[in-house]
Amino acid sequence: MINDLWYKNAVIYCLSVATYMDANGDGIGDFEGLMRRLDYLQGMGVTAIWLMPFQPSPCRDDGYDIADYYGVDPRYGTLGDFVEFAEGCKQRGLRLLIDLVVNHTSNEHPWFQESRRDPHSKYRDWYVWSKKKPKSANSGVVFPGVQKSTWDYDVVAKAYYFHRFYDFQPDLNTSHPEVQAEILKIMGFWLQLGVSGFRMDAVPFVIAQKGRDIAKPQEQYDMLRTFSQFLNWRKGDAIILGEANVLPGTDMQYFGNSGDRIQMMFNFEVNQHQFLALATGDSRPLVKAMQATKRRPATAQWGQFLRNHDELDLGRLTEKQRESVFAEFGPDPEMQLYNRGIRRRLAPMLQGDRRRLELAYSMMMTLPGTPVIRYGDEIGMGDNLKLPERNCARTPMQWSTEPNAGFTKSDKPCMPVISDGPYGFPHTNVAAQRRDPTSLLNWMERIIRMRKEVPEIGWGDFSFVSTGTSQVLAVRYHWRNNSVLCVHNLSAEPREVRLKLRADDEADCELVNLLSDEHSHPEKGAVHRLLLEPYGYRWYRVCGLDYLLRRSAI
Ligand code: GLC
Ligand code: CA
Repeated sequence: MINDLWYKNAVIYCLSVATYMDANGDGIGDFEGLMRRLDYLQGMGVTAIWLMPFQPSPCRDDGYDIADYYGVDPRYGTLGDFVEFAEGCKQRGLRLLIDLVVNHTSNEHPWFQESRRDPHSKYRDWYVWSKKKPKSANSGVVFPGVQKSTWDYDVVAKAYYFHRFYDFQPDLNTSHPEVQAEILKIMGFWLQLGVSGFRMDAVPFVIAQKGRDIAKPQEQYDMLRTFSQFLNWRKGDAIILGEANVLPGTDMQYFGNSGDRIQMMFNFEVNQHQFLALATGDSRPLVKAMQATKRRPATAQWGQFLRNHDELDLGRLTEKQRESVFAEFGPDPEMQLYNRGIRRRLAPMLQGDRRRLELAYSMMMTLPGTPVIRYGDEIGMGDNLKLPERNCARTPMQWSTEPNAGFTKSDKPCMPVISDGPYGFPHTNVAAQRRDPTSLLNWMERIIRMRKEVPEIGWGDFSFVSTGTSQVLAVRYHWRNNSVLCVHNLSAEPREVRLKLRADDEADCELVNLLSDEHSHPEKGAVHRLLLEPYGYRWYRVCGLDYLLRRSAI
């Protein structure tokens, strides 16, 4: 059971083939290049890779506009290269997840072309059409500022089509049985080629009712069961990791009460509140967010993360809370997006302060769930705010001090490499950090190793331990008679806290530090006195005397 539910205690690393490593020197990352970096990824200790879209695409939304679900964009290689890569992952025991973008296609997809051209084509109903412009046309846009409406006129079809995202991303009519069958076919295809599951894009929109007359679209949650049942029949250990930025009250609808819908979801609620905690030094809103998302079926799992390829969405926070995160992490308008989020990378947001980077990562890795790391964050890469929109945080991976960071031999990389300032590749790159035992990269490797050795976090139940100050968060995990305690000081000042372990038999319990030699012996009454440096953190195993005797070497 423990090994079967691999995603309960995994470490996922997300990357885009296009900007990772270019092997043939045309300036665009490719599968051959990525293959060469598999040992790097394995060495870091991640256990699963999530690939962003790499299928043929006009790439007007970084590949989230797919023109053929059954292929590899020739810029990145061939289907054969993908299979080689999938095999390379398998040989190293790495799981492979890929993006599944089926809410919409590219407008260049042959299905859409058929659909608009021929009203009698079977593809007509694969999209969502309306003769008249629906009243709701100007509501529900996802990209305010760059997207005006959700219905646009198509001159060929002489009708309006629905698009939740950009106008070049027509929505698929996902309620249509044939479209659903096609989605299963797409999943089956990639499963056969070796993937262990999918990061499902825009899930709430995939399952929403769509159509001109639908004023208040309902979610069709049963669709999620159809998807995951299919996965189970084809490949028992395959999963769906859903991108569903929904209110905590609806989480269980996505997981299913008995865990029969999607297995994983990103925890956007906790993500936003972690940034709030990092900005304000106050853990209370984060505690609330963790409590609000505590409930989940035993087989389900949260994906915890810091940054991803999109903006840091702060839509869940109150106006005042959002203001404090903006003030701390994205004060300039150019750092913000749509007034609701921040488009920067993590390291510059934290001013490259190593203590805060470690705190942020240590916290994220000890939140209930499975950590998801964004490529480049392991070396503290920066952003390029001159690039439009979300592209600022999608620049090529910085491998070395060679020209263009060793990402490509071409002098025209598909996306400019960051070359100036403290985050430029001459300072921030893998090669240098690999050689430096004190580097962020080597720290990351150690913390990942430790995270994997603490399955209590992925599997266990958690509770909060009072520290007497909201600036110090102490979370305790229990699982199978084991227990760990993770303590984080959000404050820029040192903090001394007194913690009391509650159970009667815990009076003699030692807190065994998992990251250093500094263990804690209880004072009278199971009280531990901990002195934390500014932004300090501790991971302890809570060990009774009998445990210590049994395992004389700790
Ligand atoms: C998701 C992706 C985002 C993309 C959008 C449309 O939100 O994360 O990058 O633009 O879907 O596919
Ligand atoms: Ca290439």
